[in-house]
Amino acid sequence: MADTVGELLKEAMEAIGASASLADLITVDTRYLGRNKGLNELRRTIGTLPQNERPAFGARINEAVSALTEAIGLRRAALEERDLERRLASETIDVTLPGRSLPAGRLHPLTQTSERIKAVLSGMGFEFVEGPELEDYAYNFAALNYPEDHPAMDEQNSFFVSDSQLLRTQTTALQGRIMSQRRPPFRIATIGRCFRYEAVDATHHHTFHQVDVFMVDEKISMADLKGTLGSFARQMFGQETLVRFRPDFFPFVEPGVDYSIHWRGRWLELGGAGLIHPNILRAYGINTNKYSGFAFGLGIERTHMIQTGVNDLRLYLENDLRFLRQF
Ligand code: FA5
Repeated sequence: MADTVGELLKEAMEAIGASASLADLITVDTRYLGRNKGLNELRRTIGTLPQNERPAFGARINEAVSALTEAIGLRRAALEERDLERRLASETIDVTLPGRSLPAGRLHPLTQTSERIKAVLSGMGFEFVEGPELEDYAYNFAALNYPEDHPAMDEQNSFFVSDSQLLRTQTTALQGRIMSQRRPPFRIATIGRCFRYEAVDATHHHTFHQVDVFMVDEKISMADLKGTLGSFARQMFGQETLVRFRPDFFPFVEPGVDYSIHWRGRWLELGGAGLIHPNILRAYGINTNKYSGFAFGLGIERTHMIQTGVNDLRLYLENDLRFLRQF
């Protein structure tokens, strides 16, 4: 009988040595040490032995159980260590691998144009100030010398939020805000979104962007306006660019002009300009015997369209990557 124990032990030891995983080892453990299995099954045959052989057999079984338990414990530790090493080897980060590249974004074409305009005007001493998109009727129209019910306001039909507030139709609205806070001399510029209640087509949108520029100082004349606009246009469009003024009407300038640039063989209308109407300066307590000023404004979309040949300004608001990726 002792031999049966020895044989079973030998067989179990081999199975332990051969188990290649913790799962294999659990199977071996159950097969030889399970409650009604292997050595325990053998233990139950003790009653069939002659009385005098029983103690030795029992002791032999106990020794075999301890030997197997110890061997299984050692094998488990070895397998666990091997698994850990494998995981460490397979999960280490290789810091020498090149990183995953992320698709590079870029600035929206209108942002690019705005940044360029900012760089040029800042270089000419203009300070950029932001105004609110939801503007007071007073700053958008009344303070800009629009008489009540003047037809010039019809050209700039707006989205009114209340009787006194609207989405600004022109960035010129900043003028009154500045003049109510500062004393001349000043050179101010602003860029932002404007809104008009328009029939949308390839050159008109309900939402578009403008830059507005104005300065007030002693002895400012049309010559300063023309010099500033000429320099601005040359820096934006190239050294060959010419600027042309033609009379136009805006309630907040006198004289008022629209101006075009001669670029690549064509005259292209850019925006409106003029000398700030004395009524506006006076309304803010600025001495018109001493001070005068000029102002001009232009569309950001229009500027980018001229520079690039884009022929439909609706594209700027559509966020179609096939369009945006071209710039
Ligand atoms: C003005 O808005 C005046 N505030 C400009 C000005 C400033 C005149 C300072 C005198 C002194 P106008 O409505 O023409 O003017 O608009 C100026 C530019 O904004 C236009 O040349 C055009 O490029 C752009 N613009 C006007 N309306 C739209 C629109 N619906 N969609 C796209 N661009 C527009």
